[in-house]
Amino acid sequence: MKKIILITLLACSFPALADRLPMPGNAPASFKSECSSCHIAYQPALLAADDWRKLMAGLKDHFGSDAAVDSKTNLEITNFLTRNAGEVSRLGSAGNPPRITQTQRFVRKHREVPAKFWRDPRVKSAANCEACHRGAASGNYGEHDIAIPELRE
Ligand code: HEC
Ligand code: HEC
Repeated sequence: MKKIILITLLACSFPALADRLPMPGNAPASFKSECSSCHIAYQPALLAADDWRKLMAGLKDHFGSDAAVDSKTNLEITNFLTRNAGEVSRLGSAGNPPRITQTQRFVRKHREVPAKFWRDPRVKSAANCEACHRGAASGNYGEHDIAIPELRE
């Protein structure tokens, strides 16, 4: 019990810890090679296990792209994503097809980001995390690593 309280205290005094979503060390090579050519390899904690399963079952028609992989690779990536997935109780529902950007957690975290930032042509899509979070690919979403295109130059 003491330990739990200590951990809670630490988490509160370093809120930045909550903004770090490092890629789990056990990521299979296939995840990097198959899931990072069109966008960043999204950290598994950004979606819940059931949503990853749904997404991985529909790769043939993946948001208008064909991202299909062979069944062995699919199983390997699905296992990795679901084992390291976020908790649905924290993320909320992700829609269908599931999107990180539709989870209640994502919406809540971005509630104060003005519409014109999203409309910037350099952002293109809310799924383009790297447009604003320079460290997204390495799991750094902390405020010190945010560079909004609209506010640069
Ligand atoms: C051929 C290109 C391509 C590949 C390969 C690909 N994706 Fe995608 N992915 C897309 C596109 C296009 C979107 C939609 C992006 C948008 O709405 O801006 C997308 C969106 C997503 C989203 C939802 C992002 C959001 O809006 O929250 C997730 C999650 C995702 N991909 C995971 C994966 C995973 C896991 C893999 C590997 C198995 C993968 N993708 C491989 C093209 C690809
Ligand atoms: C248009 C720019 C923009 C895009 C694109 C964007 N974000 Fe953000 N994000 C922000 C801003 C600005 C904040 C800080 C909001 C605040 O503190 O009110 C933020 C906050 C966050 C936080 C919370 C960090 C904290 O301090 O608690 C997370 C996690 C996050 N974003 C993840 C993502 C992910 C994952 C994606 C892509 C799927 C993404 N963001 C796309 C601008 C963006």
